Amino acid sequence: MTVPAVEAVDVWRTYELDGVSVSALRGVSLTIDQGEYVAVIGPSGSGKSTLMHLLGGLDRPSGGRLVIGGRDVTTLTAPELATLRNETIGFVFQAFHLLARTSAVDNVALPLVYRGVGARQRREQAAAMLGRVGLGHRLHHRPNQLSGGEQQRVAIARALVTEPAVLLADEPTGNLDSATGEAVLELLERLNAESGVALVMVTHDQEVAARAHRRIAVRDGLIRSDSLHDRPPSDGSGVPATLDPAPSAEPRSASGSGPGHPPGGPGGAAGATGRLPRAEERPRPSGRLHRGDAG
Ligand SMILES: Nc1ncnc2c1ncn2[C@@H]1O[C@H](COP(=O)(O)OP(=O)(O)O)[C@@H](O)[C@H]1O
Ligand SMILES: [Mg+2]
Repeated sequence: MTVPAVEAVDVWRTYELDGVSVSALRGVSLTIDQGEYVAVIGPSGSGKSTLMHLLGGLDRPSGGRLVIGGRDVTTLTAPELATLRNETIGFVFQAFHLLARTSAVDNVALPLVYRGVGARQRREQAAAMLGRVGLGHRLHHRPNQLSGGEQQRVAIARALVTEPAVLLADEPTGNLDSATGEAVLELLERLNAESGVALVMVTHDQEVAARAHRRIAVRDGLIRSDSLHDRPPSDGSGVPATLDPAPSAEPRSASGSGPGHPPGGPGGAAGATGRLPRAEERPRPSGRLHRGDAG
């Protein structure tokens, strides 16, 4: 029996803004298993990004229980949560969020800094990961010397260099033209199939959502449907089975026998030594690394 990659139980998230409270999530329960490919759809403002931030430990719930990699986030200090995020989660955003004055290889190597991996090994792992996303010939380019599709590939390589259990992608093709977006999508799907990283992707595109093995529809801060398909219902005959919006702990089979996740990865020095990053290396609780203040 494998531990779910991420589990949310009756999760709420209420924002307080100018004395007004907005409940962006109003009791969401879901389980993401190892190796799944999940599309999250829903209208603008329905709470999709809020949900992604919570699933990735970038934010904490106002209520309910959130368990990432088997650990309840409410029990963790901010540095512990940052370390768990570094070990377990990769993020890809619509706006790439790369460090502007930093080469592709050093952008990708950055999450390994937080793990205490040595400079040479970081670069080797980052270069290898860039090779896997088709950018082995762009190691020393800076983001402004790369196309949008290439920048998103760098962001994907950065998200996966730590060999996370889950890749959370919030509208990853939203800033790309359709042909480039399709190539990025195919890359994400290939990495999900090859490496067994669970892929949870927010999309506006129904056709894209239909390619996922599981589709979660969010509206008004609630999960309205959660359905599995064995294959995309491209011929119109694949009527998905609708699941209870609060899924049980039963294992899902849609993604087959996931090859699992090597905890810590080849450079999992932090896991092995328990070493915490030095203060200047440490991600801020808001997730400096992934939310990128680099513009
Ligand atoms: N930091 C925040 N402060 C206050 N309200 C927020 C914040 N982030 C999101 N919201 C509100 O929460 C709701 C859900 O937002 P969001 O999760 O970004 O939706 P989506 O990604 O589906 O478009 C919206 O009403 C939005 O205005
Ligand atoms: Mg959003």
